Amino acid sequence: QVPSSVCDNGEGTQRQRRPTKVSVIGAGDVGMAIAQTILTQGLADEIALVDADAGRVRGEMLDLQHAAAFLPRVRIVAGTDVLALTRGSDLAIVTLPGARPVGHRGVELLRKNVAVLREVVPAVAEGSPESLLLVVSNPVDVLAYAAWKLSGFPASRVIGSGTNLDSSRLRRLLADHLGVGAQDVHAYMVGEHGGSAVALWSSISVGGMPVLSYLQKTHASFDGEALEGIRRAVVGGACEVIGLKGYASWAIGYSVASLARSLLRDQRRVHPVSVLAKGFIPGDDHQVFLSLPARLGRGGVLGVAAELELTADEESTLRRSAETLWEHCQALGI
Ligand code: 2OP
Repeated sequence: QVPSSVCDNGEGTQRQRRPTKVSVIGAGDVGMAIAQTILTQGLADEIALVDADAGRVRGEMLDLQHAAAFLPRVRIVAGTDVLALTRGSDLAIVTLPGARPVGHRGVELLRKNVAVLREVVPAVAEGSPESLLLVVSNPVDVLAYAAWKLSGFPASRVIGSGTNLDSSRLRRLLADHLGVGAQDVHAYMVGEHGGSAVALWSSISVGGMPVLSYLQKTHASFDGEALEGIRRAVVGGACEVIGLKGYASWAIGYSVASLARSLLRDQRRVHPVSVLAKGFIPGDDHQVFLSLPARLGRGGVLGVAAELELTADEESTLRRSAETLWEHCQALGI
C-alpha cells in the first residue's frame, strides 16, 4: 500500500486545470520528431498519434509510453481513427508523407496529400471545432490553404509551419558569422517555404542592434552576392539534409514545438509562419497562404506584419510566389 502521506495530496479538493490535448496526424519521421519534442518540452497533457499504419503508430505510442518514468505525466493514445482519437484537441498538427519543400511540388504527391486532407481535416474539424490547425506537410503553403478551406475554420486558427524553420537556418548561419547564440539573432525568412523564400535583410538585428550595415562594413565579403549565397544555403538546407539522411526531422520537430508553445501557452511571440495573406495579388478573393511574421497566441494568429521592408526585387519575388501559389490553390478545386 502507498503511504497516505504520498497519495493524499488533496487532489480532490484542488481546482483542476483543463488538460491540453495535441494531436499529431501522421506518425512518420516528421510527425514523431514533433510529438517527441512536444512531449519532452511538457507542452501537452495528452498526445494523440494518428496514422493509417495501425502497427507502426502503436509501436511509436508504446515506445514513447515506455519513457514514462523520465518524462512529465502525459497520456499518449494512438490509432487509425482520426475523429475518435483527435476529439477535443486544442492543437491538431498535420504531417503527411513527402517531406520536400516547394520547388519540388510533385503534382502527383500534391494530389495525393490533398486527397488525404479531404478525409482528415473535416474529421478534425468535427471532433475539435475549437482547435488550432497546424499544417506541416509540403508543399506547406498550398496544403495550409487546402486545410483552411476544408476545415471551415476562421483563417486565424489555421497555420502552416512555413518559413519558421528556414528562419532558424538563417539565424544559425548569421550567428556563426557573428559568434553569438542563434536565439539572439532576429532574422526572418518570409514568403513561400522553398526555393523562393525571401530573407528580410534590413530587419536583422542582434541584441537590438541592426546588423546588416555593421556586417557589410566589417566583413568586406558581405556583399549582395554573399547574401544571396546565404539565402541559397538556407533554402537548400532541407534538400541537403534529405539528400544525406533521407528525411529532415529534428529541426522541424523543434520548429513546430516552438509554434505549439507560443499557441498553447499564449506567448504572443512573432514567428514567420504561413498565414492567410491578402493584398499580394490583385482581386479581393485572391488569397493565398504564405509566410509573414505573425503574432501567435491561444487564439491562433493574433496579428500579421503586412508592411514589410522589401527591396523591389524581394517584393516582386513575393508577388510571383503569391501568384504561383494562387494558381496551385485554384487547381485543387477546393
Ligand atoms: C524542411 O524545411 C523538409 O520542409 C522541410 O526541413
